[in-house]
Amino acid sequence: MKAVVQRRWGSAVLGDLDVPVPGPGEVLLEVRAAGVDMGTWHLLSGKPYLVRFIGYGFRGPKSPVPGMDVSGVVAETGPGVTGFAPGDEVFGTCSGAFAEYTVAPVSQLARKPAGLSFAEAAAVPISGGTALEGLREVQAGQRVAVLGAGGGVGSYGVQVAKALGAHVTGVCSTRKVELVRSLGADEVVDYTVADFTGTYDLILDCGGNRSLSRLRKASTPRGTIVLVGAETGGAITGGFERALRAVALNPFVSQKFVMLISKARAEVFDELRVLIEAGQLKPAVERTFPLSEALDAVEHVYSRRSIGKVVVTI
Ligand SMILES: NC(=O)c1ccc[n+]([C@@H]2O[C@H](COP(=O)([O-])OP(=O)(O)OC[C@H]3O[C@@H](n4cnc5c(N)ncnc54)[C@H](OP(=O)(O)O)[C@@H]3O)[C@@H](O)[C@H]2O)c1
Repeated sequence: MKAVVQRRWGSAVLGDLDVPVPGPGEVLLEVRAAGVDMGTWHLLSGKPYLVRFIGYGFRGPKSPVPGMDVSGVVAETGPGVTGFAPGDEVFGTCSGAFAEYTVAPVSQLARKPAGLSFAEAAAVPISGGTALEGLREVQAGQRVAVLGAGGGVGSYGVQVAKALGAHVTGVCSTRKVELVRSLGADEVVDYTVADFTGTYDLILDCGGNRSLSRLRKASTPRGTIVLVGAETGGAITGGFERALRAVALNPFVSQKFVMLISKARAEVFDELRVLIEAGQLKPAVERTFPLSEALDAVEHVYSRRSIGKVVVTI
């Protein structure tokens, strides 16, 4: 099969690999599309270096194929698999989506939402799941600010917060204003003109470029500040350092900082499917790239040129 093959950190090429064999609890997927996000870049580059120490491979990447978000058709089921059969259309996460075939544990797969293309479905799992998990405690009528609202997680964050009945302010740069407005934000702030004002019950920070004191100032006294990620940290720990610093502040401040670590799993993807099928959530896919240009797709996201989501189609 054709696949993007990655033997060393920071280096990958289109090549040929054997079709993988599904193990117990896994299915073989004929991949139709693979979502791209900042995490894909982290696992291609091996940066920040912390990713090499937390299980993704010290000397080189453990997975020979990058790509985590996936949609496709079940081609074969492994031992002990129930609930899925060949021909089923699914979406979820795996290790190695940038390929014609991949294996995925059924604990990380759900049925593809009705009405979504494979490209749209592949744009959902990690970004949509992270937004859903970050906004769990939102109640109707609360004020929510989504920072980085025109990015992958943020574009779902705006829609999930609206679905929960919140008053939503989306904060983004000029090129993303139109998208964020179209996603249903009550207010859209172009921070290149003026930074956001007001106080919020919950801030979903997907941008990571504001100081913790600035976030606290924009939060109600008992508000929650969910730190999704940051690309502004150093080469060793990246955005983790900022989130750890924030959590360490919790005993001393009235607001609550939450360091979000999303867990990609079938139950969350099923919740997303229900929201999508109810018309409350729609992936904002800006662009698709063919498999042969998968690395360009990752670069498009890494260089901050993407708006909403980017997908590789196979
Ligand atoms: N905690 C978790 O489990 C989890 C899960 C998924 C992702 N993440 C992390 O969360 C962050 C957001 O992910 P994403 O997929 O939404 O990324 P994305 O699509 O690149 O969106 C991030 C948005 O943040 C803004 N931004 C501000 N400063 C930035 C900077 N220095 N570099 C890049 N973007 C910047 C950009 O919007 P403007 O151009 O409008 O400023 C961009 O649209 C990333 O750091 C990612 O690694 C964490």
